[in-house]
Amino acid sequence: MAEMVFEFEVNGKIEQLTAEPGKTLLYILRQNLGLTGTKDGCSSGDCGACVVLLDGKPVNSCMVLGPQADGSSVLTIEGIAKDGQLHPVQRLFGETWAFQCGFCTPGMLISCYALLESNDNPTRDDILTAIAGNFCRCTGYQAVVTAVQQAAAEMRAANGGAGND
Ligand code: FES
Ligand code: FES
Repeated sequence: MAEMVFEFEVNGKIEQLTAEPGKTLLYILRQNLGLTGTKDGCSSGDCGACVVLLDGKPVNSCMVLGPQADGSSVLTIEGIAKDGQLHPVQRLFGETWAFQCGFCTPGMLISCYALLESNDNPTRDDILTAIAGNFCRCTGYQAVVTAVQQAAAEMRAANGGAGND
């Protein structure tokens, strides 16, 4: 199949590359750009290991073809740390043991990051809804809820205590 040229922004950097039009965003990220933090758990839209933000919305990147992402902005797990500092929810996943093998963790973190971008004080149900498409076979979900709620509290405090609790 003939290759086509793609251009999109990934983690704030404009990337140009050639790939077959049938190649998924997941494999463009992993193979063309070397961003292997985004995982392939099922290749069929079921597990959430491959979640990235596409124009600010969480998507299963195994279900997005390159042409659908062309011209878009993509955020992967490699892009959520800032100035050498882990995002609070990344750090708190570690501190609260919200992972074991870590295979689901990049996708889980992107879903949690997206939630925190839109909701600075998520309830347990908000968090469980946000990660409903992220399957973890190791840890369970309670530590994830704890990590997200602690991250939200930290972020509210850093923003001057805004919030509704
Ligand atoms: S690898 Fe994409 S949802 Fe499982
Ligand atoms: S930590 Fe192993 S699958 Fe979630």
